[in-house]
Amino acid sequence: MAYNMDRKTFFKVFAVLLANTGITPAFAANLNVENNASLKISEGPYLLSMDGGKVCVVFMTNKRAVASVEVFSPDDKNFSQNKIFFDSSPTGRKHIGTLHAVWLENLAAGNTYSYKIEVKEVLEYWETYKGAKYGATKFGDILKCDTYPNGSNPLIFKTPSDKNPEMSFIVINDIHQTPKTVQQLLQPKNLSNADFILLNGDMVNTFQNEELIFKGFMRAVSDAAHGNIPIFYARGNHECRGKYSEAFLDYFPTKTGKPYYAFMRAGTFFLVLDMGEDKPDSSAECGGITDFDSYQKEESNWLEKIVASKEFKTAKRRIAISHIPPFELGESPYNRAIGNRFRKILDKANLNLMICAHWHERFVVKSGERFPKSKLDIKVKYPIIINGKKDALKVKIDDSSLSFAFINEKGGYTEWVDLNKLK
Ligand SMILES: [Fe+2]
Repeated sequence: MAYNMDRKTFFKVFAVLLANTGITPAFAANLNVENNASLKISEGPYLLSMDGGKVCVVFMTNKRAVASVEVFSPDDKNFSQNKIFFDSSPTGRKHIGTLHAVWLENLAAGNTYSYKIEVKEVLEYWETYKGAKYGATKFGDILKCDTYPNGSNPLIFKTPSDKNPEMSFIVINDIHQTPKTVQQLLQPKNLSNADFILLNGDMVNTFQNEELIFKGFMRAVSDAAHGNIPIFYARGNHECRGKYSEAFLDYFPTKTGKPYYAFMRAGTFFLVLDMGEDKPDSSAECGGITDFDSYQKEESNWLEKIVASKEFKTAKRRIAISHIPPFELGESPYNRAIGNRFRKILDKANLNLMICAHWHERFVVKSGERFPKSKLDIKVKYPIIINGKKDALKVKIDDSSLSFAFINEKGGYTEWVDLNKLK
């Protein structure tokens, strides 16, 4: 954890300092500054990792700025007076940059909240303001925004409530930087009643630069969610590659500060896992700069604790999400070891369902069936749905059932299947 905090703080401060030197850093986040344009929100906002009274509002500005989000809810006494949250670093300083992540906290369950973003351009501040009065900061334009920038949709969201046993969500994956596919799969009729959108990895070929993250898929996802529908992200192996892979959590923060995490919806416990790279640390692809072996040991220790928790065991349902299915992916000892490490825990976790991606084609595997494509004779202990690269998976849950359908790029639905009938 200490490494993460230090890295993030260093990354943000270093990037701002370099912006004033003209040096191009290894990571160029916060440096896509349009000095001659008017201040604007250039990407987002999008709502991430909504759970337990918290949600992160993420957006970008075209100029270096400080940012805040003002929240209001007539239904929640705590928010009947507007409350303001800042984009702050872990050290207490307000973050100055172009990428903004503002955590909203202490939200009550089952309420509707409206939010307004305020950004204030920072022209100079005391570290770089030569000859200025000590501590002086020179602000520029101020922008206030309570509608989604690409349209007029008001910025509102509803927090989930366990009192409501009904929910639905939509999953897309393996988009590999084809935003048109995102637009087709996340068209409004497919998002109707969706409580959240799940991005199940490999959204780009390589997590190489900021422009690619947004042009490649995230602008299309954000426009579809238009600041109202929460998003969760499960990292795939392709997000582990490229210059920006280390900055993944800056763009897609989670409550754990790790790409793996858990959340609750409608009494259902969701485990979001991260199998990392699908190649060994010693492979050419990893280039001698990965230590996924230690990372996955750490994650499996976390997973063991989570599945032993009362909250997990007593949940109405347990759904695991993983880009890579934790089954044999090939003959390499590495892949087997990863699979064995996670399967050993998941097999005892009384899962109702696992949702995976990575193979680019659809499979539905019933509990007790042999895992498709595997050369090992592994019988799965819970149903697994693997979504395709040009399909969206829609899942509906109510008090007594979980059903799913696939949606193709043209908007055609398969028949809805009740999970109970898979057993
Ligand atoms: Fe993949």
